[in-house]
Amino acid sequence: MSERPTSPATSGMPMVSDAQIDEAAALLDSGELVAFPTETVYGLGGDAESPAAVARIYAAKGRPASHPVIVHLAPHGDPQYWVAHMPADAQKLIDAFWPGPLTLILERAARIPDAVSGGQTSVGLRCPSHPVAQRLLEAFSARRGGHGGVAAPSANRFGHVSPTTAQHVRDEFGGAIHVLDGGACEVGIESTILDLSRGFPALLRPGRVTPHEIADVLGVAPRLPDGSDATAPRASGTLKAHYAPRTPLALLPFDSLEPMLAVAAANGMRVALVARASSAGAWADASNVHFVAAPEDPHVYARELYGFLRALDRADVSRIFVERLPDTPEWVAVNDRLGRAAAAFEAQA
Ligand code: TXA
Ligand code: MG
Repeated sequence: MSERPTSPATSGMPMVSDAQIDEAAALLDSGELVAFPTETVYGLGGDAESPAAVARIYAAKGRPASHPVIVHLAPHGDPQYWVAHMPADAQKLIDAFWPGPLTLILERAARIPDAVSGGQTSVGLRCPSHPVAQRLLEAFSARRGGHGGVAAPSANRFGHVSPTTAQHVRDEFGGAIHVLDGGACEVGIESTILDLSRGFPALLRPGRVTPHEIADVLGVAPRLPDGSDATAPRASGTLKAHYAPRTPLALLPFDSLEPMLAVAAANGMRVALVARASSAGAWADASNVHFVAAPEDPHVYARELYGFLRALDRADVSRIFVERLPDTPEWVAVNDRLGRAAAAFEAQA
């Protein structure tokens, strides 16, 4: 793999100085946007209590204003400030998983501006574990008497692949957005989203924190997203076609990819293949194939996924063929993102 993002722990995280943190917190304080690293993906942040700042986020992303954004809180922040009431289940999950890659959807306090929740009566809250995110959130929160929260969707244009490095953010927005560089994101896919606003736990987006881990804490399994949950809150990350690269992507078992590879080879078409080396066999070395060996470990796959999709978009291939992964719990989050990337092209396949 040409672009192999490594975890901050092993790559030597770039230094972000206190002065850079202060500068970024001051920008947020004045209603400007700042892109910052989290353990999942980079976020495009703005003051969650400023409708003007939230409007800037929507404008920069090209995202419909009816889509709610997640409010990021400092480790010493006050989740109670943002919600109408804190259910016991929410507190248990906060104690178990924060700081970390779990977003909770809760009934929002009346004072929270409509814009941040896309007009819904709920608010999404999360406390990230990345040290740069935490320093920024503490510095901003301190400027707001300990109550500041940063609204931040993933720092990509609407519908596109989330960024997992500072360079990915620059690739999305050019020099228009101030970026704090905290190295490559360790988790690599967006947080798990759990809705607790309707009296029962419901998973809206799978992520590193699994339904099984949530069930261990709550003593009850969350409802899973199966399309039949008609009253589920709207979430853009839950649209069928999302997280898409620009190059058409097909997600199929290797058996089904093989005839497509053969047609591509016969026509001299350059394609990308993301598959386990054991499945790919000789196709890995075919002259028209740009081969990416799929990581065997689900966490590693998640960490590298968006980086290789972005790299393949620049690799001058006309199709991205991805081997389908096992239908087992440890692959659910990666399958979800790959499935959405493929769905974006199913109509034209
Ligand atoms: O890991 C993450 O969650 C990253 C980092 C930056 O924290 N953020 C992220 O944000 O993925 P975004 O906006 O790209 O995806 C957040 C998802 C969206 O699908 C949004 O609709 C949903 O969360 N969401 C946010 N607030 C919500 C609410 N009140 N009700 C239902 N869904 C909500
Ligand atoms: Mg997103």
